[in-house]
Amino acid sequence: MERTLSIIKPDGVSRGLIGEVIKRFEANGIKIIAMKMVHLTLKDAQAFYAVHKERPFFNSLTDFMISGPIVPMILEGENVIEKNRTLMGATNFKEAAEGTIRRDFATDIEKNIVHGSDSPETAAAEMAFFFNHFEINQR
Ligand code: CMP
Repeated sequence: MERTLSIIKPDGVSRGLIGEVIKRFEANGIKIIAMKMVHLTLKDAQAFYAVHKERPFFNSLTDFMISGPIVPMILEGENVIEKNRTLMGATNFKEAAEGTIRRDFATDIEKNIVHGSDSPETAAAEMAFFFNHFEINQR
């Protein structure tokens, strides 16, 4: 069993896509074992995306991520890091496969509805960023 962090970003929340995203996870056998809604401060967003701090899109990305509440979740399942990335589709929605979340709903490379951890190491750090031990459930 593997775990990963998913975030429904401010565009997904404001456009009423929380249910749609969760429906896709559950329909694909992924279990949600932690979930909440939070509104990050700029400092939080900069810390979460610190790996991108030298990238030209960093300021725009962190401003976007604090533009409204987000829904972080911990997903559990076999091979769930890869499975979640397949369901999300490519970062750039124009390159995302048919039927993926980003292909169906993203409006640009930044406002791409969801975030998902890209490796076991990143997943561990990103899950710990949002959740403590009593917010993570056995199901
Ligand atoms: P995410 O998977 O959360 O990881 C970093 C985020 O930066 C990405 O999704 C996009 O929301 C955003 N972003 C904006 N511009 C780019 C870009 N040119 N390349 C990659 N990510 C970008």
